[in-house]
Amino acid sequence: MQDKTIYVTQPSLAPLDEYVELLKGVWERGILTHNGPLVQQFENDLSAKLGIKNFVAVTNGTIALQMAIKALGLKGEIITTPFTWIATVSAIKWEGCTPVFCDIEPDTLNIDPYKIEDLITEKTVAIMPVHVFGNPCDVDAIDAIATKHNLKVIYDAAHAIGSTYKGKSILEFGDISATSLHATKLLNTGEGGGCVTTNEELHEKLKRIRFFGHNEEKDIVEDQTIACRIGMQVQVGRRIPHQVLVVLGIVTAEKRPGSLPEITMDITGLVQRFCLPKNNHT
Ligand SMILES: Cc1ncc(COP(=O)(O)O)c(C=O)c1O
Repeated sequence: MQDKTIYVTQPSLAPLDEYVELLKGVWERGILTHNGPLVQQFENDLSAKLGIKNFVAVTNGTIALQMAIKALGLKGEIITTPFTWIATVSAIKWEGCTPVFCDIEPDTLNIDPYKIEDLITEKTVAIMPVHVFGNPCDVDAIDAIATKHNLKVIYDAAHAIGSTYKGKSILEFGDISATSLHATKLLNTGEGGGCVTTNEELHEKLKRIRFFGHNEEKDIVEDQTIACRIGMQVQVGRRIPHQVLVVLGIVTAEKRPGSLPEITMDITGLVQRFCLPKNNHT
């Protein structure tokens, strides 16, 4: 482990000149919004770095959670954890679903999979666990419960962008994972987030929901009722991240190879060493 303090509230920023070349391109093209080349570059770079198939970049982690609920067409009760940031629960409520709280494991602080089944009713449609502080949940047990009861699983992976489980990115577990790229997260775009799924149909649907419900032909084919919060993206009502802000993420993801998983391992290691002595997960 490196002898270096990692401040939770201090955004990681590369030297300014590392961003300038990319910013010049933004000014030359004059494309600030929509699915511009830098958003696509960011998605591709990050997917390659994490070894995942589909990263759909959006304006923040809260909207990523809401989009996941919408893409899966969920209406009903969603079993989740009380040990989280408020956004997990507000996303469920914003989408007209009902949060049902399940107790957590004392050693990992993640949802206790062995307490989920008692909470399942005929109204339950999904489970939304959180990988707290980047420590993977017991995804095998959660997956088995979801399969048995025909439930969807959305992982709130806001803290877990670089985490792995059995050698694979944690973002590829469940039906959809939603992560955050907020300034306080390990990889930041100032404000930002993303949805990840291995299901191609869901991937296409998430991209349509992100783009005002338009398909590639610009026909509106998805219902548009997601209300977006106004953030530093300065894109009221938009879900595609701003070109200038993804530059922050591109520099970290692309020009600093290895830094993301290393930092993630440091933080997971710290949490395991000082807070979670019994944690067995990677
Ligand atoms: C567990 C969890 N879920 C969701 C979010 C929401 O992410 P964002 O701030 O990008 O909307 C956060 C943000 O801190 C979080 O900690």
